[in-house]
Amino acid sequence: MSTHIAAQSGQIAPYVLMPGDPYRARWIAETFLEDPQQYNDVRGMLGYTGTYRGVRISAQGSGMGQPSIGIYAHELFAEYDVEAIIRVGTCGAIAESVKVRDVILGIAASTDSAMNRPRFGDVAYAPAADFELLRFAWEAAQAKTLPAVVGGLFSSDQFYNPNTTIASTLAGYGVLGVEMESAALYTLAAQFGRRALAVCTVSDHIITGEETTAAERQETFDDMIVMALDAIVR
Ligand code: HPA
Repeated sequence: MSTHIAAQSGQIAPYVLMPGDPYRARWIAETFLEDPQQYNDVRGMLGYTGTYRGVRISAQGSGMGQPSIGIYAHELFAEYDVEAIIRVGTCGAIAESVKVRDVILGIAASTDSAMNRPRFGDVAYAPAADFELLRFAWEAAQAKTLPAVVGGLFSSDQFYNPNTTIASTLAGYGVLGVEMESAALYTLAAQFGRRALAVCTVSDHIITGEETTAAERQETFDDMIVMALDAIVR
């Protein structure tokens, strides 16, 4: 057991899909994994392990924001020897070129968070995805003709951001979408010498105001989960 996860050693697979919403972890386990076993419900942060095409894979909720994913990712890497985490989330598009329902594969994650200040002081460390996971996810998306795009994410501590110009400034530097977790995940993977990737379906467009319906969000999310699973078992 770790502080926030009630699993015994060996109950969590080396590969973990990590949605923010714990109910989505349950959805992934019950919809896509064979013989899913729940290993955690501490604080309602559900976690399951099952198999996909014969490979053991876990689905673990992260909660919202970098402090929350930081706790779960740290414990998965430090206490359960997890090899790779793929965050499967949603984001708001900030680049005009990106459309709702696209899937952004986050090659890097800029952040307005102070999370990394105790580690690096004044140095602006550049949290980045694992190249091989990114490539495998890209290839899985191509095989299924999913609308995947590769670019930067903005991991913000503000869902309701009073700075209304920051999104377009970052878009001018190749950042495609805003979410709230990936920079912490990438940093922790680097700290532990493990691998991480964040893939996010675009649920809304910050610039154009375009939104998805609940049914569209579910369908796009499911396509993205299959892409992430295929990237793991290829
Ligand atoms: N901001 C932050 N996180 C998000 C958003 C957003 O607009 N949309 C989906 N996740």
